[in-house]
Amino acid sequence: MPSEESSPLLGTRHEPAGIQGASPLDVYLSRVQNRNLYLATFAAVLGPLSFGFVLGYSSPTIPALKQSANPALRLDDNQASWFGSVVTLGAAAGGILGGYVVDKIGRKLSLMVCTLPYVVGFTIIIAAQNIWMLYVGRILNGLASGVTSLVVPIYISEVAHSKVRGMLGSCVQLMVVIGILGAYVAGTGLKWRWLAVLGSVPPCFMLGIMAFMPETPRFLLRQHKRSEAIAALQFLRGPLVDHEWECSEIEANTDEQQKLAIAEFKNPAIYKPFLIGITMMFFQQVSGINAIMFYSETIFEEANFKNSSAVTVAVGSIQVFFTAVAALFIDRTGRRILLVVSGIIMAISAAVFGIYFKIIAPSPGNSSHINSLSPALMEEEHHLSWLAVLSLGLFIMGFALGWGPIPWLVMSEIFPLRARGAASGACVLTNWFMAFLVTKEFYDFMVLLTPYGTFWLFSATCLLNVLFTILCIPETKGKTLEEIETYFQGSRQPSAF
Ligand code: BGC
Repeated sequence: MPSEESSPLLGTRHEPAGIQGASPLDVYLSRVQNRNLYLATFAAVLGPLSFGFVLGYSSPTIPALKQSANPALRLDDNQASWFGSVVTLGAAAGGILGGYVVDKIGRKLSLMVCTLPYVVGFTIIIAAQNIWMLYVGRILNGLASGVTSLVVPIYISEVAHSKVRGMLGSCVQLMVVIGILGAYVAGTGLKWRWLAVLGSVPPCFMLGIMAFMPETPRFLLRQHKRSEAIAALQFLRGPLVDHEWECSEIEANTDEQQKLAIAEFKNPAIYKPFLIGITMMFFQQVSGINAIMFYSETIFEEANFKNSSAVTVAVGSIQVFFTAVAALFIDRTGRRILLVVSGIIMAISAAVFGIYFKIIAPSPGNSSHINSLSPALMEEEHHLSWLAVLSLGLFIMGFALGWGPIPWLVMSEIFPLRARGAASGACVLTNWFMAFLVTKEFYDFMVLLTPYGTFWLFSATCLLNVLFTILCIPETKGKTLEEIETYFQGSRQPSAF
């Protein structure tokens, strides 16, 4: 039963009646019904499903377009690499756009509007008469992916409560990797135009279902729409809890100030989470994940796995399985421990990968390109190929357990409400721009630093990830977004939180 009493400790705010000794939050959470929260999360994660599909789309499509019967659509190697990577540039721009619209028109509407560039992008690809139309379609798909990758984590963290926020937030990455896998699997049977038709389906469902879901209570309160915020909480938490209490808890901790001023970057509550968010995104990408995924087919081919589409499906499946494991455990283990374990697994596997390349490296004077090996070295390489396959599998597993899902989750948790749009925009921009640089420059790095040097560099950055996690990233498990905001005002050590 909702209680209208005020607590001396909470001033005039409402406190839910309940079990003696339990905190008001525990009492509240024990009565929450999650069914509609799960439904709202499901509607939102159709966005990451769509952007996973966009990321996976190039893998079966590039080989098909390279052999296209229509010369106007036939891609050479350079055009194929642009077809793959131009999405990341569109997504980086989507980060800037997303940071603006998420605060202007709200979380729900921003997400619904994303359907447009997804569907228009795929339609242009389907109707393509020349390569430029393919690029434009991919840029639009990328733009939608960038906005989605910003808005969905924010939407979920703002509608969720602290008990399940980690699990629901991790579903973002889970749906990304399911989308990637879906494109790989569907690509084994569907022609590239039909694949684009299929890619348009999830965003349409997202539009349809999101129309019936509420805006987030935090955004509504910021807009001074209190009764709508209460209605949203009634939908999201079920009828058994004191919605007034959660509403006043959010209000009490929400800064009255509406706009973020540049001078505020001197304030630790702004600059600390800002630096943490950007650095996490930077580290996620310089771990080399996209380069390694991109390169996985070649690695398996060298290991004598002839069916390269089966290989990409295997890589996608490892990601899905271990991302699901992370989602199940994250609210029990916390974010920091998973990040540390993930970083260590990635550092070790990238180092082993480097050792593999060092053993099979061509002698000085030969080209250092991975594919130009002498027959003796090719024999050696063949014997050791299991090492490459093992390290690749371990690396992907490590990423899925922590550095895949958690940066997106933490991004949605650490910024104060008024800085959330702009700061998340900067994070998304950093992430996708770095993804572009790493995938585009990967082969040049392999030549400049040698293959083993490149992988040892990835290994070293993964170790830095671990150090950075231990020293700088606070544990946000079980905390409300408002408690996290208060933490950054103080100067406690990350582990003490
Ligand atoms: C990363 C992407 C990556 C994807 C694959 C995401 O978290 O941001 O760059 O391609 O995971 O698993």
